[in-house]
Amino acid sequence: MPPTIAVLPGDGIGPEVTRAAVRVLRAVRPDLDCVETRVGAAALRAGEPALPDAARALCDRSDAVLFGSVGLPEYEAKPMAERPEYALFLLRRDYELYANVRPVRVFAGLESASSLLPELVRGLDLVVIRELTGGIYYGRPKEQRTGPDGVEEAVDTMFYRAPEIERIARVAFELARKRRKHVTSVDKQNILETSRLWRRVVERVALEYPGVTLAHMLVDNAAMQLVRRPRDFDVILTENMFGDILSDEAAILTGSVGNLPSASLGTRAHFGLYEPIGGTAPDIAGKGIANPTAAILSAAMLLRHSLDDDANASRIEAAVERVFASGARTAELARGGEPALDTLAFLQRVLAQL
Ligand code: IPM
Ligand code: MG
Repeated sequence: MPPTIAVLPGDGIGPEVTRAAVRVLRAVRPDLDCVETRVGAAALRAGEPALPDAARALCDRSDAVLFGSVGLPEYEAKPMAERPEYALFLLRRDYELYANVRPVRVFAGLESASSLLPELVRGLDLVVIRELTGGIYYGRPKEQRTGPDGVEEAVDTMFYRAPEIERIARVAFELARKRRKHVTSVDKQNILETSRLWRRVVERVALEYPGVTLAHMLVDNAAMQLVRRPRDFDVILTENMFGDILSDEAAILTGSVGNLPSASLGTRAHFGLYEPIGGTAPDIAGKGIANPTAAILSAAMLLRHSLDDDANASRIEAAVERVFASGARTAELARGGEPALDTLAFLQRVLAQL
């Protein structure tokens, strides 16, 4: 049986970039069975829930999920279960995809596209390990309501149990062991109880990894250090919401959030969900100018983690590197009158490099 890949393009630029990534996947692995189905606003618009049963059934029988992006401004005021993002919320929770791996790399030649000075980001290579199924995203109670005095109120709950912290910490330390052997654990332990627990558990896990150094950093300071000395970081380990925020910040150091792939891994061996970290970018959706890099690199991560195909993953990554090194830029990366390639032209360059 050929491996099955569930392709969930979603909304906004999701379909454009995901289909580009599928073409890259097909180029290196014609044997894959890539099956597409709708989620997010695409499903809501068709009168289905954000995560239709068909999508769930497809994911159940697939080896991995290639995801685009979900969420559109027109749904902002809707309750959670009627928003496109609910699809992602359910997939992460129901497949227990607790480990979100977000590599942040500045490609050679792209330094001048960064929001920071080129000399601060040249060769930048860090990874954010974000806890993805706990914290304030999932803690209960979580609701809007009217208080006893008739005043509107709302509550979200940041909640962690030690085993959840332990398993994500292990992911970070295992990865650091193969890299520059340094973990920065980010929390807010001067204020949050969950952060105090986080620190204690991470300290405990660190004892199992004597070859890896551990530093703790408060999240506000981490946000600052990321734009001050980003290259000092190797592996950043953090909880769900801090990771969401810091990974967008780290992403823009590479010149565009459109460059950053991610893998969400869980308890089912080899299974994972792979997606660009950037959003649906409704302002440029449908124009054919979105940067497909994050989606293409997500496909590479899929090959590596879910299909154990390191060779083709590296091939794709090297192809993207060469395309950037040759001076190719998508619209949001072009600076000072540099010519820009649209999605298809960029994709053609990558395919040619393969
Ligand atoms: C991300 C996104 C999601 C998140 C949204 C779309 C729910 O921002 O993957 O970083 O907040 O986790
Ligand atoms: Mg985010």
